[in-house]
Amino acid sequence: MKSLKEVYKDYFNIGAAINTSNYKKCKDLIVSQFNTVTCENEMKYSSLCNEREEYDFSGADELYGFAKENGIAIRGHNLVWHQSIPTEHLKTFAPEALWERIKEHITIVSQRYSDVSCWDVINEAVDDKNGLYLRDTVWYEKFGENYIEKIYSLARELIPNVPLVYNDYNEYVPEKREKIVRLAGELKAKGLIDAIGMQGHITIPDYFSIDELKRSIESFGKLGVRLQVTEMDISLPAINDSRTIDEVTPREIEAHAKLYGDVFAVYREYSELIDSVTLWGVSDDQTWLNYAFGGKKRNGLLFDRNYRPNEAFLRVTEF
Ligand code: GLA
Repeated sequence: MKSLKEVYKDYFNIGAAINTSNYKKCKDLIVSQFNTVTCENEMKYSSLCNEREEYDFSGADELYGFAKENGIAIRGHNLVWHQSIPTEHLKTFAPEALWERIKEHITIVSQRYSDVSCWDVINEAVDDKNGLYLRDTVWYEKFGENYIEKIYSLARELIPNVPLVYNDYNEYVPEKREKIVRLAGELKAKGLIDAIGMQGHITIPDYFSIDELKRSIESFGKLGVRLQVTEMDISLPAINDSRTIDEVTPREIEAHAKLYGDVFAVYREYSELIDSVTLWGVSDDQTWLNYAFGGKKRNGLLFDRNYRPNEAFLRVTEF
């Protein structure tokens, strides 16, 4: 079997999200295929810390240890994300107290995982709805629109030697792209970010376009930041399709593989801007697509349920 990290060694690092329940089943595959990993959930606020502010580092420590022992880079994911906080608890804080809490959280986590390759400081701050710029979160409510700059400044001060990333999804959708350009452009102008994380979830391929992806890469690249593809997958069937993977046709499997190949061709074309491409999982038994969006069995990655390379793997590695 070819190795993704070998095939892509002249282009960018190649990675996968791993989690404590699944990585044990495919450690050798991870070590032979990938040179960077991301904790799927284990480094997130609500995975590390409960509403009594008690920390349990066991999951993140295990994955961080695995990466270090095997000489694999590990991305820090993530410090501030509206979906991974004890929201009701944090809402009870006065702004000053909440500020102290974030500061303490970032300090604790960044010191413990001091050897990460970067930090996704804020995840998904931009709103999806047309006409709305920033998502309404507890941070926004307590600190106002300026909260993003404040948190990135804090992260710069507390973690001066690690690249800071702004990470978001649907980065290939024109409206969303413009909002990310605005936000990341302002942060970059103030020296507060080093990279944009383009998640790369293609959950409804009909909404995706190679041309728009290229436009996004070019627009982000013009800001002078580095780019990372942080959570790539392509859902088969799409998440708005009521079928499971067992009901798709060979033609659809082929189209899915071809799209994978086409997207990676774009990443190669822009490899001077892109430092890493991370898949959101290792194999199809593990992808979040199986349990999110109605719990339908789906495919989305480059290895099948028996940890063998699938058709998409072939398209991605043969060019
Ligand atoms: C977002 C987050 C990831 C993960 C996925 C779903 O993209 O950034 O950490 O939770 O959703 O699995």
